[in-house]
Amino acid sequence: MSEKSLQSKMLSTVFLLATLIAFASADGYTCAGNTLINPFLNLSEPYYYPGTWRENMEPAEYAPDQKCNWKINVPQGTYATVIFYKKTQYESGIKCAYPGKDLEYISDNDQNPYIFTSPQFQVDLKVGDKPGEFSFKVVWSKYPPGSRMNMQLDGIHSLAGVASSFYTTYTAINRVMLVGFSIPDFDSAVLRQSAIYDGDSVNAKYLGNLIDTLHGQIVSTGNKLTIYTFGLENHINNTLFMGLDTAAAGDIQKYNGLNCPADTTRGCSIILQSYFYATAVAKISRQPDYLMLPNAFPYNANVRVYGDKMDINYQTFGNYTQGFEVDILTTKNG
Ligand SMILES: *[C@@H]1O[C@H](CO)[C@@H](O)[C@H](O)[C@H]1NC(C)=O
Ligand SMILES: *[C@@H]1O[C@H](CO)[C@@H](O)[C@H](O)[C@H]1NC(C)=O
Ligand SMILES: *[C@@H]1O[C@H](CO)[C@@H](O)[C@H](O)[C@H]1NC(C)=O
Repeated sequence: MSEKSLQSKMLSTVFLLATLIAFASADGYTCAGNTLINPFLNLSEPYYYPGTWRENMEPAEYAPDQKCNWKINVPQGTYATVIFYKKTQYESGIKCAYPGKDLEYISDNDQNPYIFTSPQFQVDLKVGDKPGEFSFKVVWSKYPPGSRMNMQLDGIHSLAGVASSFYTTYTAINRVMLVGFSIPDFDSAVLRQSAIYDGDSVNAKYLGNLIDTLHGQIVSTGNKLTIYTFGLENHINNTLFMGLDTAAAGDIQKYNGLNCPADTTRGCSIILQSYFYATAVAKISRQPDYLMLPNAFPYNANVRVYGDKMDINYQTFGNYTQGFEVDILTTKNG
């Protein structure tokens, strides 16, 4: 081969490569309709989408105008840890679904893991002509051996809990109501590292996680409920949940579980949503606290404040214009 023709061949290869790269980056990947995924025989082998993508790369660009769905199986005794790498213009067509739940929006640039339990979760992509990047990684794991913690509810008192390595099971006389707590010092997305089950073990039906409890308490169908927090204890030591018997909740519609920020100048205010029903505030504190009631308040309402292991009931008469002091006793569990 003459030097000239070799040169031109190299040149055309470079040209071809450049064209290919340009082509790929202009079009992105095309996904494959409906896919059913099972874990590999070697459980520690992760599943990547796209298959050649790895987490040290930029998320992969997808082609416009396509629709795909992944149903991903999670065998009993295991759970899946999934990180979504999504970089779009708030593309609302990229979603996931917890077992037995509806599809929900996946945020851009949120790499806090999702925990999906048995039997199956979904990833769904339905995009228009806007460009974007989306990749994900699934890791299946066996539940680690761990001790069980039993929380016996007496129908009157509430029992609060923190993240721990325990499998925590509440047993109620009636049904278990689980209240979640806000975590002002952290990104609440870390609360996805939790799962709540409708029974006495992680094999029971999935009810939701601690993010769901921020929008409303979760209630078991029977008299037992289990919660597991997947290593969250390494990040957070705040109170994260509180269990009580449905009989103890009485006519309360909505609970707000609050942790106050460590920086006290940020304040810690409570907004009582209800003008017609009793409202409850669960506030766990290491020190005595002040509860400021709002200026306008329904006549003859009940405010119930739950401390660590004690409940206070206030009856209000008319409109308060001043805050009043409430000592919330903190007593250690046990
Ligand atoms: C299973 O997969 C992991 C991760 O890829 C690897 O480190 C390990 O060697 C594999 N085990 C077997 C038995 O192939
Ligand atoms: C909780 O964690 C914070 C910061 O990590 C630490 O300052 C604090 O002492 C811890 N509190 C308890 C009760 O362990
Ligand atoms: C409370 O305030 C509201 C609105 O200002 C007022 O209509 C109502 O009469 C007040 N109730 C009492 C008991 O003072």
